[in-house]
Order: sequence, then C-alpha cells, then structure tokens
Amino acid sequence: PIPERVADLVHRMTLPEKIGQMDQLALVTVQGTCNWSGGALNDACLHDVLVDHAAGSILSGGGMPPQVNSPKDWADLTNQVQNYAITNSRLHIPILYGIDAVHGHNNVLGATMFPQQIGMGATWDPALEGEVEQSTQRAVAATGINWVFGPVAEVARDQRWGRYYEAFSEDPVLTGTLAAGAVTALQDGTSGTRLAASVKHFAGYSQPLNGHDRVPADYSARYLQDTVLPAYRQAVQAGALSVMADSGAVNGIPVTSSHYLLTDVLRGQYHFDGVVVSDWSDVRNLQTSYHIAADYPSAIAEAVNAGVDMAMEPTNAADFSTSALTAVQRGLISQQRIDQAVSRILTMKFRLGLFEHPYVDASRADAIVDNADLPLARKAAAESAVLLRNQNKVLPLGSTTHKLVVTGPNADNMANQLGGWSIGWQGVPAGTSVPGTTVLAGLRAGAPAGTSIDYQSDPAAAANDLRTADAAVVVVGNTPGAEGPNDQPNPSLAPDQQAEVAALQATGKPVIVVVIADRPLVLGSAANTAGLLMAWLPGTEGGNAVADLLYGKADPSGRLPVSWPKAIGNEPEFYTQLPGTNGGTDSGYSPLFAFGAGLSYTDYSIGTPALDRDTVKPDATIKVSVPVTNTGSTAGDLVVPVYAAEPVSQVLTPPKWLVGFTRVHLAAGATGTASVSVPVSLLAHTQGDINGDGHPSVTPGSYTLLAGDATTGTAFTVK
Ligand code: IFM
Repeated sequence: PIPERVADLVHRMTLPEKIGQMDQLALVTVQGTCNWSGGALNDACLHDVLVDHAAGSILSGGGMPPQVNSPKDWADLTNQVQNYAITNSRLHIPILYGIDAVHGHNNVLGATMFPQQIGMGATWDPALEGEVEQSTQRAVAATGINWVFGPVAEVARDQRWGRYYEAFSEDPVLTGTLAAGAVTALQDGTSGTRLAASVKHFAGYSQPLNGHDRVPADYSARYLQDTVLPAYRQAVQAGALSVMADSGAVNGIPVTSSHYLLTDVLRGQYHFDGVVVSDWSDVRNLQTSYHIAADYPSAIAEAVNAGVDMAMEPTNAADFSTSALTAVQRGLISQQRIDQAVSRILTMKFRLGLFEHPYVDASRADAIVDNADLPLARKAAAESAVLLRNQNKVLPLGSTTHKLVVTGPNADNMANQLGGWSIGWQGVPAGTSVPGTTVLAGLRAGAPAGTSIDYQSDPAAAANDLRTADAAVVVVGNTPGAEGPNDQPNPSLAPDQQAEVAALQATGKPVIVVVIADRPLVLGSAANTAGLLMAWLPGTEGGNAVADLLYGKADPSGRLPVSWPKAIGNEPEFYTQLPGTNGGTDSGYSPLFAFGAGLSYTDYSIGTPALDRDTVKPDATIKVSVPVTNTGSTAGDLVVPVYAAEPVSQVLTPPKWLVGFTRVHLAAGATGTASVSVPVSLLAHTQGDINGDGHPSVTPGSYTLLAGDATTGTAFTVK
C-alpha cells in the first residue's frame, strides 16, 4: 500500500534529500551548472540538480525547451532526466516532470492545439472539454511528462488582465463544472499512463486591483467565498492530485504564505490530500517582492508553514537547499512539516505509478502526437465560436456569394490564432512555423463550388475589391501574450482595425467580422456589422471551424461565457453585479452582449422550468425539466442555462445566477425537454453583516428558477 511505501522511504531519507524533494527546478534557468540554452544536456547540470540537490521535480515552464523539436525529442529528454535521477540518486526516486499543457500539448511542434480555455468555456460542454483533456493526456503522456499545470479554475472578471483567456468563464458554476471535467479527464489514465493535474492558481488571482498581473487583489470575505472559491472546490473535489498557489496577494496576504487559503480552506474545508506547489519564484518573492520575510530561510518557512509542499524555485538549487536547511536548524520549520510535505510528494509519485513505470517508449511519441485529433479540434473550435450578429440572415453564406473578399490582420496568422502558451511562453516564437489552418486557408478549402476567395492583406485594396464582390470576411483581433506583457489597460479593437471595418462597411456590402482575440474587445462602430462571430483563440483547426460555420456546414452553438463590455469605462463587466440604487434595482449591468448570448442559424424557444417539487430542503437536489423547441428549419445544439433568483434576500444577491446548464440537440421543428439537476446548495450566499459570517449558507425562503433569457420563472420554497 502507498502509505507504507511512502513511510518507508521517508524513514530512510536524510534531511537534505527531503528538502530536495520539495524543490522544483527548470533546467533552462538553474544558474551555474545548467543555464541550458540548447545542445545536449550536460552531465554536470544533471548531477547538480538531480543528485547533489536531489530535486523532486523538473519543469519546463511556458513551452518547448531547447533541443526539443519533436515529440520524440521530448520523450528522449524526459527519459534521460528520469533515468539520471533514478540511477544516480541514492534512493532511486523518480522525478515529477511538469509542463503547461493548457490547450492540448501546446508545448511541442506537431501537436494539435485546441481552443484556449475561454473558448472551451463558450462551448458550455463539459463532455467535449473531457475529450479535449483526454487527447491532451495522450499527447503529454507520450512525451514522458507526468504533470500538467492546469486547468485554471479562476473566474474571469476583468478584461484588462492579461491572463483572462486562461479562465473558462466569469461564472463560478460554468467554471467549476468545466474545471472539474478537465481534472477528471486529464487524470483518468485512458492513455495507459496516469497524469496529475494542477488546479491553478489557488485562489483570487483574476481581479488584481489595477488590472495588472500579480498586483494585489482585495475581496470581501463574502465575494471570496461566494464567487472566487466555489469553482476551486469543485475542481479539487474532482480528485485533483495537485494545486498551484496564486502568485498574487489577497487582502494584504501573499497567497504563497496564506495558511488560511492553502491549509484551512484547501485541506480543512475541501479535504484536499495532494500536493500544493508554489508558482514561479514565489517563495523567493515573499522576501524580495512582498517583503514579508527578512531573508530566504524565513521566506521558505512562511511558505512551507502556510501549506506549500513543493517550491517552484527554478533558478538556484543550492540556495534553496541551504536556506531550507537553515530554516529547519533555526526551528522555523518543524521536521514533521517537512515529512508531511515530502510524504505528499512521494504519494503523488506512487499514485502516478512512477516507481513502476518511469519511462516512456520514445519511438512511439511522434506517432501518438499526430493529427488523429484534428477532427476533435475542429469540433471544439466550431462549438466554441459565438455568433453575435446575423443581420438579415447574412450567414451562412449562401449560393449568392460568388466572390468573397477575405482580409484583416488575423485572417492568415497562425500565431495569433493560437495565442499565448503555444510552443513559447508568450506565444509562437518569431520565425517558428506551426502547422494549422488559418481562417483564410479554411475559407479557401471549404468554399462551395462557384464561390471564389479574393484575399487582400492591404485594407484599402480589400475595400476597393469589395465593391465588385458579394461580401467580405474581415478577421480582426489582437496578438498573443501571457503573464505580464499581455495586460491591456484598454482592451479595445485597435483603431486601425476599426477603421478597416468601417471602410469595408462604407461600401454598403455585407461585412462579416470574425474576431480572433483572447478577450471581448470593445468594438466601437465595428460592432454594427452584418455578421459578427467571436472565435476566441481557436487553435490548430480554427480556420476550418470558422469556415464550417460561415458556410453553414456547422450550426453556431457557442454562448458567451463572459460579458462583452460596450465601453472601456464599464469594466469590469460581469452579469452577477449586485443591485444598486440608481434606477431601482438596476445593477448597472449594461454589456454590449450579455453573458450567455449567442445566435444559431435556427431559432429556439425555451419554456418555463418545471420542478419535481415546490418545497425543498437545503441539502436536496431539484430536478428541473425545461421544455425546448427548435422553431426553425435546421438542426442544432441548444445550450440551456438555468438560473436562480431570490426575490427578497437578507444580503444582496445578483438579479440571477447560474445554477446548472445542459446542451440538447434538436432536429428542425423538434420539441424536447432539457433536464438539469440543481443542487439547492448553489443557492447559498454568505450571510451576516459587512464582514460576513465566514461561509455560504442557504437561507430558508422563496426562490425562483429561470431558464434561458427569461425574466420570470418558477417559484419554490426552501424549508
Ligand atoms: O504554470 C505556470 C503558471 O501558470 C505561471 N507561472 C509559471 C508556471 C509554470 O510555467
């Protein structure tokens, strides 16, 4: 049994060996012996990291390491590192190898890249998210990697924040459901190898006060409990083997040193029994950035005592070892706490079967990480796109479109279509060519007989061309980025792109705007266009998926997982804003497109929910049946959201909040029933005066359930 094997190992380990297990290093950044920037890994580096410091884990943060150009290269590298650790370390302990495979195995050339998380959020389809994560699992496992730093279970609330697109949604239930699905699928071992997910970045990362990454955030206890934490609970309780701590500070405490979040909430309330890993250099940051520790040993003690088991301290192996040892010698960290952290790390290694199967068959890597999942990537990208305008049913493009002008900066740009965390940290590095289908290529490949595509990269030429064409597709958006550089104080469509759309519109011909971007951009006049499709960062098959939708081979079924702001001053914009007094119960929520918005080529009607009872207990689950009809003439998938409202509440509650959802396929003219289970616990809010009473609870009283866009619903009572 695992606990006995762990106890036996811990018993035989020296203190420096235990401290080594608690350190995670990046071979590219370890100073002195490594500084690896290409070529074969040298022995001195491996010896320093894996033997002298007995590191428990290696990470390749943000993308492909040097020397790796193919899946086989990756597998050779991980085998080499694993073999070095097992052969040369005294107790032959295998290492955990972690990467950011956040939209497929996006760290290696040749792998299929799926839509980024925000796009997967727009599918409202946990089963599809599961398929995507299983594909990711296969590819990652084939390269000998056993730990994935994902999914993100943070709610996306501030469009200025550069990591907005890494979240699924602004809504806790949509986020939590997809994150839990991702954890289950990543870790289910269907590839024959078990991987560990790392739910990140626990917790409170997404609303830095000024919109900049890693700037402190301030939440009321109520907001933290009711809005930020629930999705993490769901993802953790899906069985996540690890959790990554938030780099930021919440309410004046760096999360890396927050005993409340990392231990009281995570362990005490959620019963998490896996490994907590800190984010990049964040233990050091307690000293150098946050100044809550006078020196490195104290910083390590703060983090470890708060609940960090493994420190992602990628640059200096010797410093971490000696400073952690000093912390123990000074009595700042107890031996028991060290043993507890090491036991958790070893337990994770045993759970993954690393002691039995540490290596991968590298000769199979290129064949496994191949194109087999391109159809899945195409389906995911098509389901993720949200049709927001379709004036006079300009879409799908019909047989009257003989000449189509295609233009715009993102029409033929694979790197922009993939976004950050793709081969490189900030996105595809300049000069690297990645396989995939751009919108231009997809439109060309899928064009029906009789439709010719006229591509113009020059805006003036495109507008000129449109005069003699039938319609234009202009692909606009933004450029990739990740932490830090991707913050956008002004998340708007660039003025030159707005002007380009305006010039096309001035021709009087139908203009279809396709947005490829990592967040909803304030569109200005570009919003007033005949057709508007938000494609997010759709991945390798994005171009084919957009073509499928524009040509009508697929029906748009994506729905906004976030609110789309009308103007910069309205941010942050999210649908659960609490009521105010300026205009009765007006919450001030006035987006361009609301949370849940999205059109299809067919029309639907969503009826009033029927509940299986009208009085429920706080721990019950209500079975909700919603009558749905496809009133149009083509088949499609309908997303059916179910919201709750509390007409009279003791503390402020939003006008409505999501408590469940499903997707139903409906043939043209068909009627059906959408069945959704609603746990009454989702009605909970933190009660109490200004500081709240500490945890959400359901108050007895009257509530309503509403489906779709309805403003009236079905009442029931909690007793
Ligand atoms: O997993 C990431 C995290 O999201 C941001 N900092 C670096 C980590 C490892 O690459």
